[in-house]
Amino acid sequence: MPQDAAALRSMLSLAPVIPVIILDDLDAARPLAEALVAGGLPVLEVTLRTPNALRVIAEMAKVPGAVVGSGTVRSPLQMGHSVDAGCQFMVSPGASPRLLEAAEDHPIPLLPGIATPTEAMTASEHGYSFLKFFPAEALGGAPVLKAFASPLADIAFCPTGGIDLEKARTYLALPNVICVGGSWIMPADAIAAKDFGRIERLAREAAGLRKA
Ligand code: 3PG
Repeated sequence: MPQDAAALRSMLSLAPVIPVIILDDLDAARPLAEALVAGGLPVLEVTLRTPNALRVIAEMAKVPGAVVGSGTVRSPLQMGHSVDAGCQFMVSPGASPRLLEAAEDHPIPLLPGIATPTEAMTASEHGYSFLKFFPAEALGGAPVLKAFASPLADIAFCPTGGIDLEKARTYLALPNVICVGGSWIMPADAIAAKDFGRIERLAREAAGLRKA
């Protein structure tokens, strides 16, 4: 199966929000993951955008209860690195045919990103039924996904990009949204100040959102 839909569904159903993490500070990896898990957000996407991202993933994967995946995956090589680092899933901003096909060679599911019905249909033709909608707010936000719901009824989305607590609530009310992704739970100043208590509070607030 190109995308293990059952495995991905159970991971994406664990919490209404997936924190999208950009982190290079290895010392902050474990306490950040612990704060997010303690706040009720166990599914963590660590973007491969920093030199230490794979080490951050390996540290976070040691935290009890954390389900860690890689983000910003754009090449088959990064897929291998993600598996080796201990990822349980991968996320990509796009859905190139090369990436969709390469994911079939790896034991963890890929959540590919799409922006249009044609891209969603291409991914669906490759066997993908869970897709990231990215960059969600810049593309028109919840009204666009609402318009996708009837013609693309067999596809569920995780919108990401420009989402905050209130916008998340609106997306989660849609029948074709399984969860949302975002970075608002981890403000840069809170990470810099190592204020993990604040991050845990923001996580708890996000975890309190309910999937309609
Ligand atoms: C990203 O790729 O950076 C994610 O979509 C997170 O977006 P956000 O920072 O706007 O929440």
